[in-house]
Amino acid sequence: SGLNYTEPYRPQYHFSPAEHWMNDPAGLVYYKETYHLFFQYNPGGIEWGNMSWGHATSKDLTHWEERPVALLARGYPENVTEMYFTGSAVADVNNTSGFGVDGKIPLVAMYTSMYPVSQELPSGKHVLAEQQSQSIAYSLDEGETWTTYDAENPVIHNPPSPYGAELENFRDPFVFWHDDTQKWVAVTVLASLHKVVIWSSDNLKEWSLASEFGPYNAVGGIWECPNLFQMPIKGDPSIKKWVLVLGLNPGGPPGTVGSGTQYFIGDFNGTAFKADPASIYPDNKSANWMDWGPDFYAAASYNGLPVGDDVVQIAWMNNWQYGATIPTSPWRSAMSVPRQLSLKEVNGKVTLLQQPQDSWHSVANDQTLKHSWKSVSKGSTSLDSPGKAFKIDLSFADHDSDKSLASTFAIAVRASSDFKQETLIGYNFTSKEVFVDRRNSGVVSFDKTFASLYHAPLSANADKRINLQVFVDWSSVEVLGGQGEVSLTAQIFPEENSTETRLVSTDGVTQNVRLQISGMDSAWH
Ligand code: FRU
Repeated sequence: SGLNYTEPYRPQYHFSPAEHWMNDPAGLVYYKETYHLFFQYNPGGIEWGNMSWGHATSKDLTHWEERPVALLARGYPENVTEMYFTGSAVADVNNTSGFGVDGKIPLVAMYTSMYPVSQELPSGKHVLAEQQSQSIAYSLDEGETWTTYDAENPVIHNPPSPYGAELENFRDPFVFWHDDTQKWVAVTVLASLHKVVIWSSDNLKEWSLASEFGPYNAVGGIWECPNLFQMPIKGDPSIKKWVLVLGLNPGGPPGTVGSGTQYFIGDFNGTAFKADPASIYPDNKSANWMDWGPDFYAAASYNGLPVGDDVVQIAWMNNWQYGATIPTSPWRSAMSVPRQLSLKEVNGKVTLLQQPQDSWHSVANDQTLKHSWKSVSKGSTSLDSPGKAFKIDLSFADHDSDKSLASTFAIAVRASSDFKQETLIGYNFTSKEVFVDRRNSGVVSFDKTFASLYHAPLSANADKRINLQVFVDWSSVEVLGGQGEVSLTAQIFPEENSTETRLVSTDGVTQNVRLQISGMDSAWH
């Protein structure tokens, strides 16, 4: 049944595995004109377990083809002795690792080995039950099949000196090539210590400890899935900054429960990451949130993109709070729309901006609704139904409080004909916040925290307008506000025939409204 990708809630233009459980993107690498997406995968169930690396490929980041499992949990299914946790992948184009033979370029993956049972490894190293260490594997056939480096794995053994914390959660290596120092860098976390630990290597096999970072800002839960990359600042391209993205579980943004994603902007010299003072909040609580919704986690960037300064990220569109109970079958979890990142000064502060990576246009169809209003009246304004998968561009004038003007303005999507079921995406003119309200979005009762209202601060742009882009799929909404300085990602599980849409202007009118809705086709056919 999975092969038609038409089951209830099946994402139409977001990647999801045909069946079984998926979590983090683990290994995003572009090589020979193909985007590879490796991901945390349970080959034998619809909940977390038997962690392996699933694999999908794409030519455009929107149309995906699922490939055979890349790294199958060792000993699966009888007796799992090693699980392959989150990591990353690179094309070792200069064959620094020596894994390349006959002129073939090796793809090298670095992952966290999680050993459920104590044992002696082929390399002679002893590991304890539940221990986590970093290991590598390589592929000489463009990611189809992989060989683990058993002779020496793990290549960064736990405990990493000088920490001595044998069973500390130590994981999620993000590897990339650092051009200035001509070295490989691996960024890992000591998750429960809220430390990022950075390593460097000439050959991907021998690693030396370079530095550590943290704890800073949000530390409400463990730190996971670090991602580090460099970008120029828009409008000032001579300045390049580094961005460190971190998963936090739990302790996500205000108003959410469960996992979330924060970032730091700073400098990295190949050895140490230093956050800019503007990126650090002394209260040890506030953070630069990458997404203010509940369902954006383990964001990772592509290695090997053809255009040097390009940074494209994909995140897991789910949450550890309820990930294993979402009402989908025979799979669980989808990935976010790929996000093109940039840096720009917004309201005096260098800020991470997200835009949808261009390839979504390839599934946009010609069923486009276009409207503009000088003024949208108080109450609700119905619109033609755009179906179940579409993209919205909504823009309107901001205003300060005034009796004749709206207090909030929203678009309701995936609504039932009586509007008892709807997901509202809108703006609160008083608090100056974008919101997503999924309290009545459909099936919500599988988790007591799911039916919630999420919000993110957003000020009007220079021409005093609020701009929202919204991607709606069969079980998700992703909202990008302003120039992309805020993002709000949330799963929804509406009834299949809930396809109504309307505008809702509360307490007064909303001015100078422009709306465009583009239908989105399935990327699976
Ligand atoms: C984050 C995470 C990672 C870990 C993986 C295991 O979602 O907990 O830290 O490597 O999932 O599947």
